[in-house]
Amino acid sequence: MKRTYAGLMFLSSLAVVTIGGCGEETPHGPGLGGLPSKIKQLMTKLAKGPTSLTPMIAKELNEDQPPWETIQGQSKEFAQLAAEMVKESPPKGERDSWAKLTSAYTEDANALDKAAQAKDKNAAVAAHGLLATSCKACHDAHRGGPGR
Ligand code: HEC
Repeated sequence: MKRTYAGLMFLSSLAVVTIGGCGEETPHGPGLGGLPSKIKQLMTKLAKGPTSLTPMIAKELNEDQPPWETIQGQSKEFAQLAAEMVKESPPKGERDSWAKLTSAYTEDANALDKAAQAKDKNAAVAAHGLLATSCKACHDAHRGGPGR
């Protein structure tokens, strides 16, 4: 009698685990509001908030003695992340326009990286200026959702 009871307890606790596990493993399709899109992840590293690359590099380039070694690592990462944008599909807008805007963004990022590696402050500031003002044109054309 005791055995049967223990066996039932065991079975029912298994059932709870199984049901709970299923609920958590419900797959989220890409872009269904589960995970942020790849573009959002890239934007977060590149340009979202004060600890992203764009404002950090701006601050460093503004110093009298820019910390070139730090900037070089960041500008290299910037160029790699910018190049990833090209491969993604934006939430809205024409493919041609996306190709044009993302390749301009990548070119400016490469120019920034080249200038940083050469420790050329004027060229780095110029390239950074282009990157820092690229936001609106691309968002107007390709960022989805109302009022953004
Ligand atoms: C070449 C195109 C392009 C450029 C340039 C660009 N963005 Fe974006 N950005 C996008 C797209 C597209 C999205 C929307 C992605 C989505 O909804 O999946 C986005 C989204 C964002 C987001 C929202 C991220 C999130 O987690 O929701 C922020 C913040 C952002 N961009 C900041 C910037 C800033 C600041 C700049 C300029 C310094 C910039 N972006 C330049 C294309 C661009």
